Amino acid sequence: MKERISKLFNERFGTKGQFYASAGRINLIGEHTDYNDGFVFPGAIDKYIMACINVNGTDRVRVYSADMDAYCEFGLNEADAPAEQWARYIFGVCREVIKRGFVVRGFDVVFAGNVPLGAGLSSSAALESCFAFAMNDMFNDNKIEKFELALIGQSTEHNYCGVNCGIMDQFASVFGKKDCLMRLDCRSLEYEYFPFKADGYKLVLLDSKVKHELVDSPYNKRRQSCERVAATLGVKSLRDADMAMLEAAKDRISEEDFMRARYVIGEKQRVLDVCDALQRDDFETVGRCMYETHNGLSKDYEVSCVELDYLNDIARECGVTGSRIMGGGFGGCTINLVKDELYDNFIATAKAKFNERYGHEPVVYPVVISDGAHKCED
Ligand code: GLA
Repeated sequence: MKERISKLFNERFGTKGQFYASAGRINLIGEHTDYNDGFVFPGAIDKYIMACINVNGTDRVRVYSADMDAYCEFGLNEADAPAEQWARYIFGVCREVIKRGFVVRGFDVVFAGNVPLGAGLSSSAALESCFAFAMNDMFNDNKIEKFELALIGQSTEHNYCGVNCGIMDQFASVFGKKDCLMRLDCRSLEYEYFPFKADGYKLVLLDSKVKHELVDSPYNKRRQSCERVAATLGVKSLRDADMAMLEAAKDRISEEDFMRARYVIGEKQRVLDVCDALQRDDFETVGRCMYETHNGLSKDYEVSCVELDYLNDIARECGVTGSRIMGGGFGGCTINLVKDELYDNFIATAKAKFNERYGHEPVVYPVVISDGAHKCED
């Protein structure tokens, strides 16, 4: 990829640039908990966005997306926000850096990536983190704290892209470390690296290819449900609620909001249980929690779809240890924890059965836990 974008950069801008990259992410467990001040357990993966960037001596940004073969140019003033959705991610990052009192000067850039779009692997967070990291390195002597880089990406989603997301994706993309998952407490922002080896098991994603689009999706509505329930219970967020409190307030909460909150409260505990189980190499418990999460996301949180439920059923039938919908939902991937000896049969069965019912195979992504945002040295 580096050679390809380097060549394109030279053809278009006639100079050389510096290279930066950042990754997409998986999440083992802890879904829709980040904006409830709960816990998440993600890691960065070997699917990434890479950018070749050079200053251009103007106050304009000139961007070429190699994958889309699309070009866009914008100024660094608020009034110059580009119409193209993909360019708004980059514009948003620049604005958010400036808003915090840091510097961005005009630059030229060519970028490309292999994070599948709309599969729930956070291609947008990879893009934001790549640019936030680059702006920090190129113009600010790396004075912006790493956590602030993640927050810059999150604010970009909120203020320029219409997604009221939590911090998980940008956190994972900025802090990702090879062979490690990270447990983040989304309230205190404390995090801990957990080496993830899972000897005898494989982690694999199956992409249903159902388009997952969080912009304008019911994602923001889910968040509103959670906030309504927290307000009714008189707590700051669902992090502070338990099942007994929820039951006691049942009459004052709509049936739908009740289901949403029931899922979130259950999920909060499951993340902690999975982290404990991992330290004992107890993958059966990890897997059981994953299935419980899927159930909750499908029945109570209602962010699944028939295709993802079918992939989950197939996993169960094939004896897969754990399987669940991953990410925001409304399409995208399942994440599966599979014993080595069952892997080939699971993949073959999932492809055949899914194809028979939906006319195409799911795309298979074996997971490699990798580094997050970084400068690519020569
Ligand atoms: C999306 C959001 C995250 C998180 C997940 C669900 O990926 O961007 O902040 O809420 O959905 O866990």
